Amino acid sequence: MGLWQQAIEDAVEKTRKNIERYGDLFPHVGEGGKYSNMLNPNTDWTDGFWSGILWLCYEYSKDEAFAQAARRTVDSFRVRLEQHSHLDHHDIGFLYSLSSKAQWMIEGDEAAKQLTIQAADVLMKRWREKGQYIQAWGPEGDPVNGGRIIIDCMMNLPLLYWAYEQTGNEKYKEVAVIHADKSRRFLVRGDDSSYHTFYFDQETGESIRGGTHQGFMDGSTWTRGQAWGIYGFALSYHYTKNPLYLETSLRMARYFLERLPEDNVVYWDFNVPITATTERDSSASAITSAGILELLSHLDANHPERAFLEDGLKRSMEGLVRGYATIGKPDAEGFIEHGSYSVRGGAAPDDFMIWGDYYYLEALVRMEKNIKGYWYER
Ligand code: GLY
Repeated sequence: MGLWQQAIEDAVEKTRKNIERYGDLFPHVGEGGKYSNMLNPNTDWTDGFWSGILWLCYEYSKDEAFAQAARRTVDSFRVRLEQHSHLDHHDIGFLYSLSSKAQWMIEGDEAAKQLTIQAADVLMKRWREKGQYIQAWGPEGDPVNGGRIIIDCMMNLPLLYWAYEQTGNEKYKEVAVIHADKSRRFLVRGDDSSYHTFYFDQETGESIRGGTHQGFMDGSTWTRGQAWGIYGFALSYHYTKNPLYLETSLRMARYFLERLPEDNVVYWDFNVPITATTERDSSASAITSAGILELLSHLDANHPERAFLEDGLKRSMEGLVRGYATIGKPDAEGFIEHGSYSVRGGAAPDDFMIWGDYYYLEALVRMEKNIKGYWYER
């Protein structure tokens, strides 16, 4: 069995056990090496990743047990939307792309499609007309977060592009494009590194300054933020074919891959001083790997960056599978160790991250069976 297949089979078996462990609850990040110490009843921004893992396992194995578990999560997401529970943030794209949109894509379920369009409408409520951006966190007018965009939002935009394709309503796409352009201009710096967040004047939309929330310091490059940008801009390119997005994704990927450490899995920030105890963020390497696969799908066979990206992908994924995966630890709940949620904030600085596991599996099944994630119609 090849390395990728071995890693997938291991993840599928772990997921089978996790369905029993979690019941109707959702994993978020590990605590003490276990997701089960931190489960939630579909109230966090990360809960779509569990659905996405279940759908990927179903598509890979065709085992109906995974589809049944995944459909149960979609039922839960329907209730969440009806009750508008914990949806006052921009991560609606993560939540509904990987749950109801995935169900629509795999099973053609019309109710799942309608639910996803309603979710896109909820995301549209984060659009701030005066400032012309999607507000990431907090209530409208919030003195700190009211004018704040974050690079992670690039991965929420595919829901809007998709809603435009399904409904023909141009407003979804217009908002996504304006926000992507603004992110490109203000979050990505001239040397292809990135700010985690950027502030605008809420009344005039004038730019104020870059900053960070989970990175080492305001001007540093949080590795996961860079990863969200790599994949997010590649997806904006997929939907719009604007070559500037492709170029941005490529340049951000080069910045990331040129800074891989010896074992090829990144630390949590590119500017943090490295000591023997500096935390990694395996999830950033997993997101980047999945993003590079998307990026490669848009490049000609003889594109000058192709060999560099392919080499970086191989190094990253081999680094994860050989050095971070829980293969051979049958009781482990997660697939890859040593992710970091918020090192400075002291939240799961070194544990399993459900999104790290999702993107790791997405990259693996794409490499092994050309099963893509759920960011756009196949
Ligand atoms: N999108 C939040 C995070 O990456 O931690």
